Amino acid sequence: MSLKTILIIGSEGFIGSHLVGFYIRSGWDVIGMDLAGSSKHDIQYQQFVDQDEAFEGIIQHFSFERCVNAAGNGDVNFSVTHPYEDFKANTLLTIKLLEALRKYAPQCKYIHISSAAVYGNPAKLPITEQDEINPVSPYGWHKFLAEQSCIEYNKTYGLLCAIIRPFSVFGPGLRKQLLWDVYKRSHDLNGPLELWGTGAETRDYIFIDDLIHSIDIIFDHSQMNASIYNIASGEMTSISDIVTKLILALNRPNSIYFNGNILKGNPINWKADISKLKSLSYAPTVNLEDGINKLAEWMKQLDQ
Ligand SMILES: NC(=O)c1ccc[n+]([C@@H]2O[C@H](COP(=O)([O-])OP(=O)(O)OC[C@H]3O[C@@H](n4cnc5c(N)ncnc54)[C@H](O)[C@@H]3O)[C@@H](O)[C@H]2O)c1
Repeated sequence: MSLKTILIIGSEGFIGSHLVGFYIRSGWDVIGMDLAGSSKHDIQYQQFVDQDEAFEGIIQHFSFERCVNAAGNGDVNFSVTHPYEDFKANTLLTIKLLEALRKYAPQCKYIHISSAAVYGNPAKLPITEQDEINPVSPYGWHKFLAEQSCIEYNKTYGLLCAIIRPFSVFGPGLRKQLLWDVYKRSHDLNGPLELWGTGAETRDYIFIDDLIHSIDIIFDHSQMNASIYNIASGEMTSISDIVTKLILALNRPNSIYFNGNILKGNPINWKADISKLKSLSYAPTVNLEDGINKLAEWMKQLDQ
């Protein structure tokens, strides 16, 4: 085994898969863990089976310097209808992982993937890491509780950790949320597409490569003292704008109309202050247009 080993929990998901690819390309040994019976990557892999035993086993058995938790439920709407399931996936899972790290890998650096959902509808923009926590969904609350557990393990046991709050991450491999929904529906029909909301709602989109890059920079440069980092582009984009760009990039004929209904649990406007991340020498590398084109290229390949 090389000197550089990373454990990625949720290795088969959207963010986890990109992390696996990046660290393999960077010469690391990668250990993955997920619910699937086997990994789609060429890595050492353990299936997550038993909620209580899983982390103890893997963390005692392997040695690694870095760990990222990219597992959990990422679906806000699911958390509204299944709050306890969301709590188990986003909070309880984290506490069990922290406990195993405390016992068996106390020197490991841990990055916890939380979410901008902890902010809910912010009182002002751009949002800084010090701003008020005001979740508007069970998902946001459970992410916040998991963050608090990370801080607890850092302050009480000295566990080396950092918490990231990604805003809206997109890129090849993302098979959920708005952009995937638009792709699937535009694939199936040529007529107008009805979407929730007014279209004027805004999000702060970051391309997946820049999220992965920011995680690596945090591992290298953060003091790992439970610091919290916004992960975003720092640019505000309306839903109407990004959907229009995707339809164009896909060469689809569909028009879009917004039904004006607001989905419970979804915030109105988001824009991040990313100066804390930039202070670690981070700079974005993929702009929105290029990111959408890369996403559309991947989606078009799925059509073939
Ligand atoms: N994609 C985004 O825009 C975004 C934004 C902010 C935060 N996040 C957070 O990042 C994390 C990853 O998001 P994603 O988009 O890759 O989601 P995803 O659904 O693609 O991947 C999550 C992975 O976690 C796995 N998983 C669930 N429970 C597990 C368990 N008990 N043990 C091991 N693996 C388990 C799932 O099988 C899945 O492969 C989630 O916690 C999500 O809330 C995502």
